[in-house]
Amino acid sequence: MTTPIDATLTDAWGRLGQLHAELNVDFRKWFEDESRAEKFTYQAGDLYVDMSKSYLTEDIKAALIELAEQVNLAERRDAMFSGEKINVTENRAVLHTALRREKDDEVLVDGENVIPQVHEVLKRMYTFADAVRDGSWTGVTGKPLTTIVNVGIGGSDLGPVMAYEALKPYVKEGLECRFISNIDPTDVSETLKDLDPETTLVIVASKTFTTLETLTNARQVRSWLLSKLEERGISTDGAVAKHFIAVSTNLEKVSEFGIDPENAFGFWDWVGGRYSVDSAVGMPLAIAIGPQAFSNFLGGFRIMDTHFATAPAERNVPLLMGLLNIFYVNFVGAPTHAILPYSQYLHRFAAYLQQLTMESNGKRVRWDGSPVTSQTGEVFWGEPGTNGQHAFYQLIHQGTQLVPADFIAFANPTFPLKDSEADQHELFLGNFFGQTKALAFGKTADEVRAEGVDEALVTAREFPGNKPTTSIMAPSLTPSVLGQLIALYEHITFVQGIVWGIDSFDQWGVELGKQMANQLTSAVAGDQEAIAKQDSSTRGLINYYLEKRSK
Ligand code: F6P
Repeated sequence: MTTPIDATLTDAWGRLGQLHAELNVDFRKWFEDESRAEKFTYQAGDLYVDMSKSYLTEDIKAALIELAEQVNLAERRDAMFSGEKINVTENRAVLHTALRREKDDEVLVDGENVIPQVHEVLKRMYTFADAVRDGSWTGVTGKPLTTIVNVGIGGSDLGPVMAYEALKPYVKEGLECRFISNIDPTDVSETLKDLDPETTLVIVASKTFTTLETLTNARQVRSWLLSKLEERGISTDGAVAKHFIAVSTNLEKVSEFGIDPENAFGFWDWVGGRYSVDSAVGMPLAIAIGPQAFSNFLGGFRIMDTHFATAPAERNVPLLMGLLNIFYVNFVGAPTHAILPYSQYLHRFAAYLQQLTMESNGKRVRWDGSPVTSQTGEVFWGEPGTNGQHAFYQLIHQGTQLVPADFIAFANPTFPLKDSEADQHELFLGNFFGQTKALAFGKTADEVRAEGVDEALVTAREFPGNKPTTSIMAPSLTPSVLGQLIALYEHITFVQGIVWGIDSFDQWGVELGKQMANQLTSAVAGDQEAIAKQDSSTRGLINYYLEKRSK
């Protein structure tokens, strides 16, 4: 195991501290330099990334790049791409990038080239997706399957649901995907309420196939399907084989559950759950948008992988964005980071990124078990604009916390709505451009006074400005562009993890809660002995539940 380099002891870290101490952000002044936008705007694939309204200066950028060099970032990146076991706490390679490599490429894990397996699964996925789409795969009563219900949680849910929502315009007419994740019985009940079992395909997605939520929900869906068919007098023989498929790395458990291994699509322990949307976990998407569009989606990831692996540091967008986040977290002291897509289709993007970034980098020890030496893992959050503008932007504009934000927008709308008063997409983009401008340049007290505002109200109406943003634009939200965006954030997360010296690919922090939930089952069921063993708060809460629940 290589020992992580302590970034805080590097010369570059010291230099960044100095630059931060001297930093006097003044966007109005900084933009007197007409070349600022050009200097700090970069292209990665189809993404036009304007970092000029961020806290980057030429000196800060140079020191951040030096920091990357001093923590051997390029070496670690190459180690990831080539299949080294950089997930040390689980002794695994980290190869989500192998999922989108070309057929003839080679990536070795324990001496074996994994690319042929990746393409074999893709081929099976595409054959199956086509069969569902053209109606040649039918349910037990011979009807085509038109509703796909994905049962999964975390990485086995958030990626597919986010991408399905984002790519709605590409979904084949007549097909619909639904997603069940929460163990709250409401989720499964509401999702199945109006469904026809004869036309429903269920995908049970779980990397481990041991996740309580997913297995419990999958059993419920199986009972629902079988009982609904029986109610209609339909024989249930072979129904599970026709209506259930599985996506997992644990094919043994899949067959224990009763799903035909023929209908199981595998992936590998070197794909982290939150990095798995481009594996067989993307099956609902592959069915919904079809193999060609899914392959374009993978192509988008590949574009960003190539950029990250080969672009010079000075123009390497994931590298620069990741390093800039380090500056915000560790020098400026920003505890959160907002993701603000100006696209309703991306309404689950921030939720998806929360797992990607926070499950990856919410760590307090480094990959060798020693304590981290600086803050790690900022809180990512966000909602699409313009909804967010009427909810939480107030705090970003005038609050006391600094919230760096990524704004994302597309030049072309899916629905070019116009009426006599307005082109709606232009209004939308006006808000996108206007917000980053307002955040950067604010409004001075004198400007407020010049509007004739009463002196007593001037401070309340003043905008300090100098709030940092990065604007990301692309021509349209296509499958390829979505792939590029996801891979961009995967690599940003990687960059931050390497600087902090942490293993961004394990997630031990979710285990304790799972164990506790299991240990509490008998207490929740009313076992007095088990209740008595609890701490006073947990005992009180369980007793409240037992008293109030309707018997
Ligand atoms: O919450 C922990 C976690 O292991 C996530 O990392 C993962 O995406 C999720 O649970 C679901 O796991 P699985 O796909 O194995 O059901």
